[in-house]
Amino acid sequence: MPTTQTTIQHVSFENCLMNAAGVYCYSKEELEQVINSSAGSFVTKTATLEARLGNPEPRYINTSLGSINSMGLPNLSLHYYLEYLIELQEIYKERTYFLSLTGLNQEDIHKSLKQVQESEFNGFVELNLSCPNVPGKPQIAYDFETTDNILKQVFSYYKKPLGIKLPPYFDIVHFDQAAEIFNRYPLAFVNCINSIGNGLIIEDESVVIKPKEGFGGLGGDYIKPTALANVHAFYKRLNKSIAIIGTGGVKTGRDVFEHILCGASMVQVGTALQKEGPEIFERLTRELKAIMEEKGYKTLEEFRGKLNYL
Ligand SMILES: Cc1cc2nc3c(=O)[nH]c(=O)nc-3n(C[C@H](O)[C@H](O)[C@H](O)COP(=O)(O)O)c2cc1C
Repeated sequence: MPTTQTTIQHVSFENCLMNAAGVYCYSKEELEQVINSSAGSFVTKTATLEARLGNPEPRYINTSLGSINSMGLPNLSLHYYLEYLIELQEIYKERTYFLSLTGLNQEDIHKSLKQVQESEFNGFVELNLSCPNVPGKPQIAYDFETTDNILKQVFSYYKKPLGIKLPPYFDIVHFDQAAEIFNRYPLAFVNCINSIGNGLIIEDESVVIKPKEGFGGLGGDYIKPTALANVHAFYKRLNKSIAIIGTGGVKTGRDVFEHILCGASMVQVGTALQKEGPEIFERLTRELKAIMEEKGYKTLEEFRGKLNYL
């Protein structure tokens, strides 16, 4: 029987599948449902120092091809998720979870990470560099100079495993420039990709979500080719010590297979998890194993990154 076991920085996960930040991870109750599913780990909702209510509703809409959202980072605060993760560490000593966090400005990012550094938490941090930040400035990871400065400062005091969640890039030169910066730091992973920003979905004569006159991040089928391109572009460019987490457009075992073929070590599910619920992890795992069996692969390593070119 094939195994979907995987590792990131010597930490082993029984299954390569998990939720994507923002989906089934707002509260302990939601996270418990992921813990009790076939997923190999979970990541929390992106936490800020203070709890946030987020944007007015409707702020998330499912469409036949995926989803659009402008949530505005609703979350229960860094303190809430950090305390819960530390509790879980005592209960599930052999499991490792991910804490997603960001700041509304650079100072908040450092305050948050210093709190995590000083805490008992021993899991992975996923630093979200792909949310809207200072008004008038692009999201952090589209500003390479700021990204480099933040990482330089972070790694001067943060000594636990940390990776970054990236927005999609669309230009080969940007892949080169971003990878050159990331390779300077002891990152545990990069996660590609966050939603494709600022799409617009229209029904009849109107937008479908309330914030930002309908502009919102796209997930689901719309974004799979962009996600795969980003996973593979960074797989080819980054130091082998930096794992890739693949996120975007996963709704079948075939989609998971393709992310791994592009180089992903773990694969996250957002929109499809929102639509189907945590039972999806069992179906995806079964479908992935069926593909592996048919092709004669026993482990993910046998095909990770081994995309064929014409
Ligand atoms: C409702 C919703 C909330 C999200 N919130 C976050 C978040 O807090 N932090 C983050 O890094 N990504 C967030 N995302 C982006 C997802 O983690 C994921 O990168 C994106 O949706 C692409 O995956 P998908 O095609 O499976 O949906 C959110 C996505 C959705 C749909």
